[in-house]
Amino acid sequence: MSMSPPDLPETIPALAAYRDWAAVYDSNENRTRDLDAICLMAAGLPLAGACVIELGAGTGKNTAHLARHAARIMAMDLSPEMLARARERGLGEHVRFIEHDIMQDWPVEAGAADIVVGNLVLEHVRELGPVLIRAARALRPGGQLYLSELHPFRQLRGSQARFDRADGSAARVEAYYHGVSDYLAAAAAAGLSLLKLDEPIEDGRTISAETPPRLLVLQFVKTA
Ligand SMILES: C[S@@+](CC[C@H](N)C(=O)[O-])C[C@H]1O[C@@H](n2cnc3c(N)ncnc32)[C@H](O)[C@@H]1O
Repeated sequence: MSMSPPDLPETIPALAAYRDWAAVYDSNENRTRDLDAICLMAAGLPLAGACVIELGAGTGKNTAHLARHAARIMAMDLSPEMLARARERGLGEHVRFIEHDIMQDWPVEAGAADIVVGNLVLEHVRELGPVLIRAARALRPGGQLYLSELHPFRQLRGSQARFDRADGSAARVEAYYHGVSDYLAAAAAAGLSLLKLDEPIEDGRTISAETPPRLLVLQFVKTA
């Protein structure tokens, strides 16, 4: 289901949106981005010495954390402008940023990855299945997939990645609804088993009908 109610700011495709958003993505107030970073750092993923693939790495805010522990990282993103920001971080020779659409076959050998991480990216992908199948293919048996996305309850309340353009006008990024059962079904079909499911909200807030969980955080293991 496309998230595009009629009376809200213009919705633009991800490639064009992140071309503009890249300049201010790290500096804009963004509670979802900030909570996502906190959750990843607290997740306790077995990163030490790991070969990691990151999906939709953006400006590299999470790549910086991954790079402190992992042996090798291949970080993919659609947007050259977001990747340019990420490269400015100078994270080291063991980190490779690649301009690549995760809906296309990934430039990685089957079973090469210990961990695949995707944060705040699948909202922009129409179908989960092709991504989770590629993640399962890239992972070695026992490898883990970590996903963190805007919670679908928030999506249903109209939340969607949005930003203010240089001319002051607001824009929303093309986004698609994925329910909890959509993630679980796509993962199961790809041969990934659920290890953990969290629905966090930022500290100091209580979950209610008005303030649903901010994120859906899922951790899977490749069983076969
Ligand atoms: C909200 S940003 C998240 C960036 C980063 N993961 C983070 O947590 O800050 C979403 C990113 O996903 C990227 N993206 C969207 N669709 C993509 C696709 N099909 N393939 C690769 N990257 C994509 C965008 O270019 C953008 O950099």
